[in-house]
Amino acid sequence: MAFATRHFVRTAASSSSAAATAAAKKLVVKHVTVIGGGLMGAGIAQVAAASGHTVVLVDQSDEILKKSTKGIEESLKRVTKKKFADKPEAGAEFIEKTLKNLSTSTDAVAVVHSTDLVIEAIVENQEIKNELFKRLDKFAPEHTIFASNTSSLQITQLANSTTRQDRFGGLHFFNPVPMMKLVEVIKTPMTSQKTFESLVDFSKAVGKSPVSCKDTPGFIVNRLLVPYMMEAVRLFERGDASKEDIDVAMKLGAGYPMGPFELLDYVGLDTSKYIIDGWHSLEPNNPLFAPSPLLNKLVQEKKLGKKTGEGFYKYK
Ligand code: NAI
Repeated sequence: MAFATRHFVRTAASSSSAAATAAAKKLVVKHVTVIGGGLMGAGIAQVAAASGHTVVLVDQSDEILKKSTKGIEESLKRVTKKKFADKPEAGAEFIEKTLKNLSTSTDAVAVVHSTDLVIEAIVENQEIKNELFKRLDKFAPEHTIFASNTSSLQITQLANSTTRQDRFGGLHFFNPVPMMKLVEVIKTPMTSQKTFESLVDFSKAVGKSPVSCKDTPGFIVNRLLVPYMMEAVRLFERGDASKEDIDVAMKLGAGYPMGPFELLDYVGLDTSKYIIDGWHSLEPNNPLFAPSPLLNKLVQEKKLGKKTGEGFYKYK
């Protein structure tokens, strides 16, 4: 009896230590669900599928998903032209394999039951994102990691809409996703080390260079970039220099590929306003986060940048 008890204890101990080892192991992501087939979601789905992951891209309608898939196909052709310039057959095979890894759905709940990683890239709205994560939390398996691609919302607040705060982090990709090498991996105070490492590994697996940052406004890139662009607007608003000269100055003097006004038009003035307004409400006394009357006026006039044909500049 004593032996049996000892044996049982030993077995239980070794199986619980095996479970602990398994629990401590990083998750190797194989199946990814990307929610939101817009600019960012389509790009994320593309790089994940191109690197051998099984990917389901989710959006609200089949029309949107058709457009996303078409965009992905065109982008893959561009990538392939460069990557396989001398080997068109290998290029065609790469496109075929990538598209085979990719499917679409309008029902997020129905597809998350066997996924390892959910990457959310839907509209930048706290309530809508919270509602989505809360719903998916009930249907995704225990091991599934949730990540948001948000540019300006707090990852912690999104994680709090779920019961898996330890398996929740930020994965902030850059536009256009297939071209831009950076991913910011965001660790909240509740994100487990295992989750963080799994997200870092996934970023590397899709061919990106991850950097890590705490859950702070704008993370690294936008925290530096948005105040810089807003300072350029203020310089122009004061009449200190023309927008054209400011753009030329930053390109030729600082070596930036685009000037701040060109970049604002590219990012979208509504997106920039949304970010700065959000930060201003968090830190109203921070002069770096002060709103700009000119930016507000352009957004009110629906001059949102390249996407509407006019922002700081006009586009044909
Ligand atoms: P987008 O407007 O191009 O795409 C959003 C997509 O989400 C749309 O196709 C929309 O139909 C879909 N959607 C909205 N609610 C949904 C729901 N409940 N379920 C499924 N699909 C839904 O937006 P974009 O630019 O791709 O941005 C997405 C996220 O990525 C935002 O959080 C944004 O802050 C972030 N981000 C954007 C960058 C950019 O340069 N545009 C850069 C980095 C991050």
